[in-house]
Amino acid sequence: EVHQREYLLNGELVQWDGPVTSIYSPVCLPTPNGLERKLLGSIPRTSPKEALEALDAAVNAYNNGLGEWPTMTVGERINCMQKFVYLMIQQRDLVIKLLMWEIGKTLSDATKEFDRTVDYINDTIDALKDLDRESSRFQEAEGTIAQIRRAPLGVVLSMGPFNYPLNEIFTTLIPALIMGNTILFKLPKHGVLAHYPLLNAFKEAFPKGTVNTLYGRGSEIISPIMESGKVNVLAFIGSSKVANGLKKLHPKVNRLRAILSLDAKNAAIVTKNANIDVAVNECILGALSFNGQRCTALKLIFVQKEIATEFVAKLNAAVSALKPGLPWENGVKITPLPEEDKPDYLKACIEDAIAHGATVQNENGGYTEASFVFPAVVYPVNNQMKLYHEEQFGPVIPVVPFETIDEPIDYQVNASHGMQVSIFSEDSKEVAQLIDSFVNLVSRVNINCQAQRGPDVFPFTGRKDSAEGTLSVFDALRSFSIRSLVATKLTESNKV
Ligand code: G3H
Repeated sequence: EVHQREYLLNGELVQWDGPVTSIYSPVCLPTPNGLERKLLGSIPRTSPKEALEALDAAVNAYNNGLGEWPTMTVGERINCMQKFVYLMIQQRDLVIKLLMWEIGKTLSDATKEFDRTVDYINDTIDALKDLDRESSRFQEAEGTIAQIRRAPLGVVLSMGPFNYPLNEIFTTLIPALIMGNTILFKLPKHGVLAHYPLLNAFKEAFPKGTVNTLYGRGSEIISPIMESGKVNVLAFIGSSKVANGLKKLHPKVNRLRAILSLDAKNAAIVTKNANIDVAVNECILGALSFNGQRCTALKLIFVQKEIATEFVAKLNAAVSALKPGLPWENGVKITPLPEEDKPDYLKACIEDAIAHGATVQNENGGYTEASFVFPAVVYPVNNQMKLYHEEQFGPVIPVVPFETIDEPIDYQVNASHGMQVSIFSEDSKEVAQLIDSFVNLVSRVNINCQAQRGPDVFPFTGRKDSAEGTLSVFDALRSFSIRSLVATKLTESNKV
């Protein structure tokens, strides 16, 4: 068990002797009352008082852009970041272990999450070097010479979801930090302990007050921070409902920059011209990697009627072959779910679909035991069902038969979100037409492959309720800074 009794505030690891929040693993163990989630540890349950102290630390460290961190040279900031990565790597094994226990990520996925995050930081450092070289160039126009610099924005509040507690928070925290902003970051309820081994690295690598962690309940501590009006950037990855609520708390919402990655119910469209084996393979990866708990997961599969029977049969066979088990076991693909209410929610979605005429197609589909749900293929799904509209964020694959391509297009036109779509077809003319139909409805069209965020150098954004601003190694540096320029009028006396 890991019982955290310190938190990072103003460059110090402050000892905590107040109330704590218990952290439970999705891994359940037998008890006299049946299977129960294992106690994993506990974290400080700080109050709004400590949250506002953390905010003040970030505000003071920024000091209206005159603090030590925002005035450092790019090279000095890169040195601090390199020290951080060096210290972070030393905690690799422990962080991976905590990711497995805390959110049920398989050993392979937890390892990928850690290594991808390290790569992300190193790539960000390289991208900043390029950006700095580009910014150092002078531009001349209409008798004025200008140097355009990238300047920070102020205090950034960064919050991310449980499914990538390390990687997704760092996709905003790291670029925001390296651009000279100061940071407050709030960890998700599940995945919070995985950050504990890294607190010392933050403390050692960055000047006092540059990075501050927030513990405690979001509902108690985030409102006073937003209401203070001292946050300049809200970097949030989660639901649009929460993001909109948070934005409204800021007294001058028009002064708040928001970088958001939000709702998505990405569709796969499998036409009669698809290679069915490729489509099945990619749809399984897209719908069930990390039990479907990814914003980029494929959450609705449209399949053209001519091939629907064969596609569903092959999908069932592939799902049935997936090995359920504990995160560290060999070859395991389906693991326990961290969100306590998720099994009941998924069960209700499946029951609703059955009540409207669908059936669970695969043996054991939807079988639930404690925190564990075996994936269900639900077919035929239609627009009367919850599974057609709601982002299930779990191991349920709704399959919708369609006759003409207008049906999936209508789905996307009427959806409140627009992140990604995956098109499966071997007919290049059809693919070209579908690209034209979808490219302005979503932010990424995948051809004969699953939806995903990476590679991390690609822009990651969305339309409607799916996103605000753009993330990626390249884009995030720009999202967390402004172009600020030093301009000089060329006169006879100062002409070079
Ligand atoms: O949950 C949303 C993540 O951004 C998904 O990332 O596609 O790399 O799994 P991924």
